[in-house]
Amino acid sequence: MVDVAAHVIANRLLSSDYNVLALAASAIAEAAAPGQFVMIKAGDGCDPLLRRPFSVFEILRGADRAPSGISILSKRIGVSTSRLYEARQGDRIACLGPLGRPFTVIDPPAEAWMIAGGVGLAPFATLAQSLRARAVKSTLFYGARRAGELFYLDFFRELGVDLVVTTEDGSLGERGRIVAPLERRLASRAPSSPLMLYACGPEGMLAATARTAMKYDRPCQVSVERIMGCGLGGCYSCVVPMRSEHGGFHHVRSCISGPVLTANEILWEWEVGVKG
Ligand SMILES: Cc1cc2nc3c(=O)[nH]c(=O)nc-3n(C[C@H](O)[C@H](O)[C@H](O)COP(=O)(O)OP(=O)(O)OC[C@H]3O[C@@H](n4cnc5c(N)ncnc54)[C@H](O)[C@@H]3O)c2cc1C
Ligand code: FES
Repeated sequence: MVDVAAHVIANRLLSSDYNVLALAASAIAEAAAPGQFVMIKAGDGCDPLLRRPFSVFEILRGADRAPSGISILSKRIGVSTSRLYEARQGDRIACLGPLGRPFTVIDPPAEAWMIAGGVGLAPFATLAQSLRARAVKSTLFYGARRAGELFYLDFFRELGVDLVVTTEDGSLGERGRIVAPLERRLASRAPSSPLMLYACGPEGMLAATARTAMKYDRPCQVSVERIMGCGLGGCYSCVVPMRSEHGGFHHVRSCISGPVLTANEILWEWEVGVKG
């Protein structure tokens, strides 16, 4: 793990809320694995006081193919993400990482199905590249509110990833939520054909994906997005309830035990409701 004052190489605005920020951070790029994150401080002063977590989106490479930096896919929702949206080439951004437990990358003959909701696409660019390097057949299920919020489709197509997209307003792909086509495909797939699900997105989507994976008895790794104060295990702002033996539960800090966790080890809210 390293802490660098990374300079902004480029800031590509994708929409009125989404941008991709390229940062010169070769040491982080060399060490990062798919699913890991960085803690970023956007601005010099006390507002914001704390760093914010962001998935490593892409590993940037120089002409010699050596890792030279990382990019961040950011959605503007508050003070830090607004600063990242407005960042200019040459600005310095404090960047600590890589942090957290990455995805476990599978090998053939198992297939990989990645399920992304909105900005939850972020950890899947590097995961798709790792899967491709291992010749794992991959599908991306990608849901957003509207067509204008679906990004990097060609990037995934060029990696040979099959795409299934949904939009809530029906402007591209099937109308509705991404878990609907996921469930149909799971229902029609032979139980004997090995498969790993990987999911990242809003809490409700993760819970629905985990529930569907458990219904069809499929392994599922989820990248959870808790509010993180430190990213290093010190503040306990990021805890997630996990099952314990004999029906109890305990908490883990998702910044160090995650952000990637095994779906059926989490105690989901809907299960608490079911148990009553
Ligand atoms: C491991 C991890 C990886 C992440 N990767 C990305 C990424 O690649 N791209 C990206 O755009 N975002 C990502 N996020 C979410 C990102 O950290 C938050 O959007 C960011 O902290 C918001 O900071 P802000 O100062 O702009 O908003 P704030 O002003 O701090 O918050 C604005 C509003 O959003 C809520 N909020 C803040 N953080 C979260 C959160 N994690 N989950 C739900 N609500 C939240 C706040 O309660 C508040 O209501 C990730 C989060 C985690 C934990
Ligand atoms: S973010 Fe501080 S303990 Fe996890």
